[in-house]
Amino acid sequence: MKSRGDVHKIDSIVDPRGELLALEVSEIFGFDVKRIYFLTKFYGDRGFHAHRNLYQVMICISGSCELVLDDGETRSSFELNNIHTCVYVGKMVWREIREATRDCTLLVLASECYDESDYIRNYDDFLKLKSVKSD
Ligand code: TYD
Repeated sequence: MKSRGDVHKIDSIVDPRGELLALEVSEIFGFDVKRIYFLTKFYGDRGFHAHRNLYQVMICISGSCELVLDDGETRSSFELNNIHTCVYVGKMVWREIREATRDCTLLVLASECYDESDYIRNYDDFLKLKSVKSD
């Protein structure tokens, strides 16, 4: 089982025509992609929420940003700045996307369709839910 924030190297096939990158999402991360979305044209930090039941993979396809992941006990920071690596974000993980450059575009692969009721948008609520679940 993948944990809070696993960095994974995306397979790259280089030949005289260029480079092809491929990610077998379901085989590697154990979920099927139901939705993709892009975060782009950043004017500030984003995220600041967790999901009750959503698995995601994030890939920075241009520019750079800092991805902060917090499982309620440990905060980890990842510098995302290339298409060769992706970060798996499990459920019940608080995420913050910080310091994105203006040319940053983040591609997000998600295990479920958009559902506002899946969001936890308050950090104290997130910590409370984490402590209940780990009791
Ligand atoms: P949100 O996930 O809250 O982004 P952030 O936490 O980075 O600000 O999404 C912003 C808005 O976009 C919110 O109103 C929900 C909406 N949204 C969709 O309609 N579909 C989606 O797939 C996503 C991710 C967000």
